Amino acid sequence: MLSNIAARDVETLIHPYTNLSTFRETGSLVLERGHGVWVYDSDGRPYLEGMSGLWCTALGYSNEELVEAAAEQMGRLPFAHLFSGRSHDPAIELAETLKELMPVPTSKIFFTSSGSEANDAQIKLLWYMNNALGRPRKKKIIGRRKGYHGVTVATASLTGLPANHTDWDLPIPGFLHAACPHHYRGAEAGESEEAFSQRLADELEAQIIAEDPETVAAFFVEPVMGAGGAIVPPAGYFAAIQPVLERYDVRLVADEVICGFGRLGTWFGSEALGIRPHTLSFAKALTSGYLPLGGISIDEPLYRAMLDESAKLGGFGHGTTYSGHPVACAVANRALHIYRRDRIVERAAEKAPHFQARLSSLADHPLVGEARGIGMIGGIELVADKGDKRQYPPKAGVAARCVAFAQDEGLIVRFLMGDRIAVCPPLVIETDEIDTLFERLRRALDRTATWIVQEGLEPMPAA
Ligand SMILES: Cc1ncc(COP(=O)(O)O)c(C=O)c1O
Repeated sequence: MLSNIAARDVETLIHPYTNLSTFRETGSLVLERGHGVWVYDSDGRPYLEGMSGLWCTALGYSNEELVEAAAEQMGRLPFAHLFSGRSHDPAIELAETLKELMPVPTSKIFFTSSGSEANDAQIKLLWYMNNALGRPRKKKIIGRRKGYHGVTVATASLTGLPANHTDWDLPIPGFLHAACPHHYRGAEAGESEEAFSQRLADELEAQIIAEDPETVAAFFVEPVMGAGGAIVPPAGYFAAIQPVLERYDVRLVADEVICGFGRLGTWFGSEALGIRPHTLSFAKALTSGYLPLGGISIDEPLYRAMLDESAKLGGFGHGTTYSGHPVACAVANRALHIYRRDRIVERAAEKAPHFQARLSSLADHPLVGEARGIGMIGGIELVADKGDKRQYPPKAGVAARCVAFAQDEGLIVRFLMGDRIAVCPPLVIETDEIDTLFERLRRALDRTATWIVQEGLEPMPAA
């Protein structure tokens, strides 16, 4: 029996990324308030937010300074746009700070309201740029299987997850996918991480050649893959693929929507993993998730091409109403001030070894095939047999069940395709809270193991 508020929800709301059919029975978890790394449901029950909402509330919940920044800006200038040369101080200040923080030479910043729109703008600007440069065939974009870049028609096409393609008539032509850099699943027996990385780089090169390098514009990467499974790339991966891209003049775009602003213990994931992208996309932790704001960095060659094209066409035909929204920018300015003043990124790097040690310690659990992360993010993969890595049938929903047990234990984590579970707590989490998180996760794993026995679940046959 659903509570009154859950019943109202079921009859009124469409929930993103939710099984709309089973949801009618299970209902929703209705949250009411949050503080620090804790959120509270409508019955007042606390949960440790082990996912930072959706990989975004890096500064935790109910940060008074962010609330104050929003209120101040609301009172002064609640809306102003950047169309037709209009501007406002919060957007200018934020663009200046972001230019300083970018790990690669950056000419300009363009704001959006989400990660999807940021990547969508990247794609459109690549097409626009190559038209300006007289290379109208150089338009194909390569993503990776299990990569996640958003849900617009273009970014869902770039995304490499079946759920975003099947029956959505996607991907549209011009979007390709390279192999997923997941050593645990993708490597051949005895293949080292470095050898696996080199093989993927060779495969990427073959793919670019087969497509014709004159038709390939860019390769998009998340430093650590998020929605595809919280997957850390193998050693040497970016060092191996970057020379390939350079050889064929294929631009590299880093989708830093999850990794940006400290997640890997550096300002951007690109710094932690030795990625030298031409441009970056960012969102989420920029405002600690408090208001929708994303954006992209634009390098000088891209800016020059945009200038030429804009001069030729008499304008720049792109932009959304809320691009550089003043209240969102004011919150981001305050968030970046807090990141710097409180050494949030450095402190995340200091806490990361403890977080990673606790994560790795789950590997001894009979259900855990892989437990791997970097900085303050990690993914675990549930298996039936650690030896041959066989899993339970997807329909059994083992990871979903584990996440439900975790919720029952007062912990929010997220299940992802392939019986994976992601952990990505607010960066302000303290050491004792990290311990609580992993203790609760282990209890959830134990309960899952018991449930598997009770249900009599059998592993899938070996592939
Ligand atoms: C790496 C990455 N890129 C893009 C997106 C899309 O961002 P949004 O949901 O804000 O559109 C996400 C969302 O989780 C993401 O993780």
